[in-house]
Amino acid sequence: MTSSAQSPQCADPIGVFDSGVGGLSVLRALRAELPHENFVYLADSGHAPYGERDDTHMIERSRAITRHLSAQYGIKALVMACNTATAAAIHVLRQEHPSLPIVGVEPALKPALAHSQTRRIGVMATRGTLGSAKFRTLLESLNSQADFVCQPCDGLADAIEREDANKTIALCAHYISAIGQFGTKNGQVDTLVLGCTHYPFARQHLLALLGPDIALLDNGEPVARQTRRILRTLAPPDAPGHCTLLSTGDCSTLQRAARHWLGLDGPVESIRGV
Ligand code: DGL
Repeated sequence: MTSSAQSPQCADPIGVFDSGVGGLSVLRALRAELPHENFVYLADSGHAPYGERDDTHMIERSRAITRHLSAQYGIKALVMACNTATAAAIHVLRQEHPSLPIVGVEPALKPALAHSQTRRIGVMATRGTLGSAKFRTLLESLNSQADFVCQPCDGLADAIEREDANKTIALCAHYISAIGQFGTKNGQVDTLVLGCTHYPFARQHLLALLGPDIALLDNGEPVARQTRRILRTLAPPDAPGHCTLLSTGDCSTLQRAARHWLGLDGPVESIRGV
């Protein structure tokens, strides 16, 4: 199970993956909640973006990544830090790895319900997430309590991944205006769900467009708390945890994002064959 190359400081890590840098928004919450745990983060940028691909692609990628993280790192739990992959593949992974604790991420509709006063809630997510049976079931269970305006955001995760600020701002503006009128009066959208783990990295652009009265909600912190709950063993609190960073694509993108958003300076290992 555990790779002989694994160093003692990386023992029993928690595996975390996304199509690219987006899952770093979840890793940031995980490290805050579980500072002594080791993590191995895999950015599948060689096969991204996920959001406009079909379920077969998502299931194949999720399987290959889980196999790799289990065989090479002996992960003690897996966090699917991607809404799109979770929607398409978490049931398959749970069936195929019954003894591996697996946590997924889904758009924060329930927290949004608890927050919204106007009962009109915008949801930005990938086409894959919004079209999934898992999301539809979640939405159907809640849509008698509020109006959810769901907006597929084609290209937005990719623009964030490419660090293309102009395109990111233009797409945010476009999708926000498609959702409708934001504000705190009756009939206006007062809460926006960021239903893709890349979108928290566009938070400052969204805030500039929407103003301070609109709540932007993601699920990083609830996922981190859920991960703590399902862990069978916690790392001893004697040293800060270590993060190993892997990429199936361009390592420099992950390196820059990890440094910028998490202050992580370690090298990124290329794993193109996975
Ligand atoms: N970050 C991913 C999500 O949460 C998907 C981004 C993409 O590759 O389209 O859905």
